[in-house]
Amino acid sequence: MAEETLDLRGVPKSEAYALLSQQVTAVLAGISDHIAAMATISALLHHGFGHLWTGFYRVVETDRLLRVGPYQGTLGCLDIAFGKGVCGVAAQRRETLVVPDVNDFPGHITCDARSRSEIVVPVLNHAGELIAVLDIDSDRPATFDQEDRQGLEQLVRWFSAQP
Ligand code: SME
Repeated sequence: MAEETLDLRGVPKSEAYALLSQQVTAVLAGISDHIAAMATISALLHHGFGHLWTGFYRVVETDRLLRVGPYQGTLGCLDIAFGKGVCGVAAQRRETLVVPDVNDFPGHITCDARSRSEIVVPVLNHAGELIAVLDIDSDRPATFDQEDRQGLEQLVRWFSAQP
């Protein structure tokens, strides 16, 4: 059966994330490949919500370096050091960061000048190791809130559920 990308604009966030979670599980049934999952989740989130940039930065040197992975949007920065930008700080702290105004975040890395707000969510594997961060940028201020945090943290649990 052909899968369609859901249009989630205008759908209440809790409902939107529940639908996305079901779709991710269905599309990735029988697959445990992380890159395939990152690409699938990026596409569904990006087109579902109409974000500016949606994608993953992968840990390529433990506690040191993130490198761009599957994403949707304009050209992303290739490498981000732990502790740098929103992605690097979220990776270092291993905690989700919700940034209502990127201009208020010291050291924010501007890949696309239209970016106004963002959320970055750590991605852990089954062993509890950090393997990536999910980075979503919006061209509107204060796009993301605690519902997004909960919905996205739930979505990336797909990775920790893989053997
Ligand atoms: N906004 C990020 C940089 C990555 S891009 O926007 C794609 C940050 O400061 O971590």
